[in-house]
Amino acid sequence: MIDTIAVIGSGTMGRGIAQTLAVAGYNVLVFDQRAEAAQAAVDFAGQMLDRATDKARMTREDAQAAKDRLLVVNALSELAPAQMAIEAIAESLDAKQALFAQLEQILGADAVLATNTSSLSVSAIAAGVSAPGRVVGLHFFNPVPLMKMVEVIPGLRTDPAATDAALSVAHKIGYRAILCRDAPGFLINHAGRGLLTEGSRIVQDCLASEADVDRVMRDAAGFRMGPFELLDLTGLDVSYPVLQLIYGQFHQEPRYRPGVHLAARVAAGLHGRKTGEGFYRYAAGRRVDPPEKLPPDGTLPRLWVPPEMRADLAQILPALVGAGVEMSDTAQGAVCLLAPYGLDATEAALKLELDPACVMAIDPLTVDSPRVTIMPTPATVPDLCDQLHRALLLAGKKVTRIADSPGFVAQRILAMVVNTGCEISQMQIAAPADIDDGVRLGLGYPHGPLALGDTLGPQRVLGILEALQRQTGDPRYRPSQYLRQRARLGLPLAT
Ligand code: NAI
Repeated sequence: MIDTIAVIGSGTMGRGIAQTLAVAGYNVLVFDQRAEAAQAAVDFAGQMLDRATDKARMTREDAQAAKDRLLVVNALSELAPAQMAIEAIAESLDAKQALFAQLEQILGADAVLATNTSSLSVSAIAAGVSAPGRVVGLHFFNPVPLMKMVEVIPGLRTDPAATDAALSVAHKIGYRAILCRDAPGFLINHAGRGLLTEGSRIVQDCLASEADVDRVMRDAAGFRMGPFELLDLTGLDVSYPVLQLIYGQFHQEPRYRPGVHLAARVAAGLHGRKTGEGFYRYAAGRRVDPPEKLPPDGTLPRLWVPPEMRADLAQILPALVGAGVEMSDTAQGAVCLLAPYGLDATEAALKLELDPACVMAIDPLTVDSPRVTIMPTPATVPDLCDQLHRALLLAGKKVTRIADSPGFVAQRILAMVVNTGCEISQMQIAAPADIDDGVRLGLGYPHGPLALGDTLGPQRVLGILEALQRQTGDPRYRPSQYLRQRARLGLPLAT
């Protein structure tokens, strides 16, 4: 039975962990190699608890009791009464191993040594102590008191008792515990690759701007943040090394390949909010969004849609007609509006033997959302893009225009998010329900990747990835076995 927990390292993470544990009723011994940092952390936690009472989220008595349970200690030896230690010191294998080697001399033989590492192997940290069975990963998220989930990661030699102890702490603090295998990025940092690397790839290929990718992911795909807002928030100086690290830990797996344009941005100091400029500029702390491109005044198109694509556009077509667009019975003399999955406008036009100069494509996946994405072939008469853009604005849509891209923006990013979730499930890094809950809670996505795949349809996602792989020749788009088999068999991804 654990009642006293040592928190070592009281920076961003340690202070939040200490506060959360104290609120849940644990006695917390806080140590930092800089004594003033430990005191500052306890003071900070006190202020947070006072704020919680001011907002009536906690009684004054409970807040005071939690404060009383937080104790600064000035020497590692004073941590002896703790039955568990959670380290949140610098992200260094040597430093973490050295700390645990000291702690195993100080704490009782049954005490659990938990690491909050985000990128090191728990098994590797455990290899530095004489009893690796007591080392377990307990990976919190920033800000700890608000992010109510934690990854529990047994290393290869972790005793089940240590894992159970970590799970019971997670339970007592009221956090959703996600049991993960000791694999690069565990669950959450691994699952986040799809959004970031595919967003970067789209921009690297000059198919859309960063702001356009973010707008599509927000308005059309329902994400709280697009990849570039997110990178600006966390800071590219922090995120880029993580992208490189996970790519390297998976031995240059193409699915996790970071964009090649990112290194120069880090070197140039374009780190994001913290440096005043990243993918966006910031004025007085506020992001300055580039204005949306609008078409000049002009005519509306005469549209023809291939019969097999009309069902996908069933809602937008009447709205376009309502906006004044004339529908044509034949492709002759009309703008041919295609709604391809996985194909670019070029391939879709050639497949249907249409004149590419008259072809425009619209993303069928997001056509019913507030923002639609359209693209011409490289041969499309430029005015046709303006004509369609005008008509969609009149039909009440926001419009993003991109260069001809297999899978537009949303299809390819969402397919990569789903495929990454499927790979995680294939590797049994976490159970399907944990993958979905973890991604919603840890990354704030509207759906977990497997549930998202089921909503989009596993066959459809498989088709998008296969088409992307075929057109680009890039193995990063190869479908996960997990996805392929379930899609072929008509099974859901999420169970
Ligand atoms: P931080 O730099 O804010 O705090 C680290 C603290 O540890 C500092 O106060 C430092 O004085 C102290 N420290 C360093 N070496 C020490 C040692 N040998 N003994 C005692 N104290 C020592 O770092 P942060 O961001 O809190 O990260 C801590 C750990 O948590 C790292 O392993 C990091 O990868 C992990 N992590 C960080 C997240 C984040 O968003 N910042 C999220 C999840 C995990």
